[in-house]
Amino acid sequence: MEKILILGAGPFQLPLIKKAKEMGVYVVVIAPHEKYPGISVADKAYFHDAKDEEFAFEVAKKEKVNGVISDQGEIFVRAVAYAAEKAGLPGNPYKTALIYTNKYKMREKSRELGLATIDSRKARTLEETIKAFKEFDGNAIIKPVDSSASRGIFKIENENELRAHFEETMSFSMSGELIIEEFIEGPQLEVNSIAVGGKIKPLMYADLEDFSIPNVFSSKKRLYPSAADKEVVNRLLEYNQKINEGFGMIQGLSHNEYVMDGKTGEIYLIEAALRGGGNFVGSDIAPLQTGLDMEEFLVNVSLGKLQEVPEFEMNQCHCAVVSFYMPYGEIISMDGTDEVESLEYVVNTKFNLFKEGNHTDKISDKRQRCTIVLYGNSRKQILERIEEIKGKLDIKVRTDEGEIRGPIWD
Ligand SMILES: Nc1ncnc2c1ncn2[C@@H]1O[C@H](COP(=O)(O)OP(=O)(O)O)[C@@H](O)[C@H]1O
Ligand SMILES: [Mg+2]
Repeated sequence: MEKILILGAGPFQLPLIKKAKEMGVYVVVIAPHEKYPGISVADKAYFHDAKDEEFAFEVAKKEKVNGVISDQGEIFVRAVAYAAEKAGLPGNPYKTALIYTNKYKMREKSRELGLATIDSRKARTLEETIKAFKEFDGNAIIKPVDSSASRGIFKIENENELRAHFEETMSFSMSGELIIEEFIEGPQLEVNSIAVGGKIKPLMYADLEDFSIPNVFSSKKRLYPSAADKEVVNRLLEYNQKINEGFGMIQGLSHNEYVMDGKTGEIYLIEAALRGGGNFVGSDIAPLQTGLDMEEFLVNVSLGKLQEVPEFEMNQCHCAVVSFYMPYGEIISMDGTDEVESLEYVVNTKFNLFKEGNHTDKISDKRQRCTIVLYGNSRKQILERIEEIKGKLDIKVRTDEGEIRGPIWD
């Protein structure tokens, strides 16, 4: 019987664990404690920090697994690559995982590849960051080098803002480094890719629209496929291919985000991830766009069972990931959520994030964001359906001042 090690056992790894079981594979998982939903589905669980690289390797060796994999979680990328490489299993080089999980290394590598790259510096102290900021003409953004979900990201226009946010940014940096770089204004795009044996193909691409809530940097809409001009799409896919090949992607999925400078039209990488997109992008959007079963692909590729990227056709429908935030206060109504979930074109939601009677958290990053996945026949129909969903939801929050407010869609 084949054996697989899956890192993480949370809601985003659960479909992968279930799929591996269905495929007759013996599943070992690593998760911090027994409360994770994937534990009871797996055959065996180790309770430990799933991003511990050495531990993942030790388990892979001890259990004599045939493959190591995870799904959607940024925190597992390095440990998956490390354990696979050290155990001699199919995977991406650890060196590659180090680039994809460090925002400064991404910039360094893409400069080295001769690609247009956002001007960026790394820093460890406030003094270093202030010094670097002076080179950016009051138009900068600071980010932890190795975090995700928009945690600790701030647009910086003056030194006072930098002083005010520096500590928070650093608090999300695992390595104690941040990057400060030029803030590029313009439309954002996303490209997801699939690879087997170093042969990489684009899977799907989208237009991204961000919330206008200051310093939240989270997308309110991801619309697939992108409606950008053919010329832009070709340029984007070409650039994306160079990024993935240059960073050394060998197998699995990648999820890369880009910005097109509104003034010059130049496309720049914002960040690259060596995994399927989170927030249902890898699990729900990818099969809608391509017809591929992504979990089956991940299990097969990690076990070394594929010689080539499976056959698929791109852009099989229009689909979207739409999100909203809650105002700060007590949730007094969540009406309409069942009705929305039963709509034929609604594929998934995160409504279970919220319950009547609960108090919401302050909005700071993507963790407080609620999401709906839907599909349609055209961009126009998708936008109409989003309006239909908004109309059906009767979500109300009572703020601490006693005001009644609805969800925040922008
Ligand atoms: N240099 C930049 N210029 C403009 N916007 C940026 C820049 N860097 C990041 N952003 C914005 O911040 C968001 C989050 O940054 P990102 O690097 O993707 O971090 P995370 O890993 O937290 O998603 C991006 O999706 C984009 O909207
Ligand atoms: Mg991002």
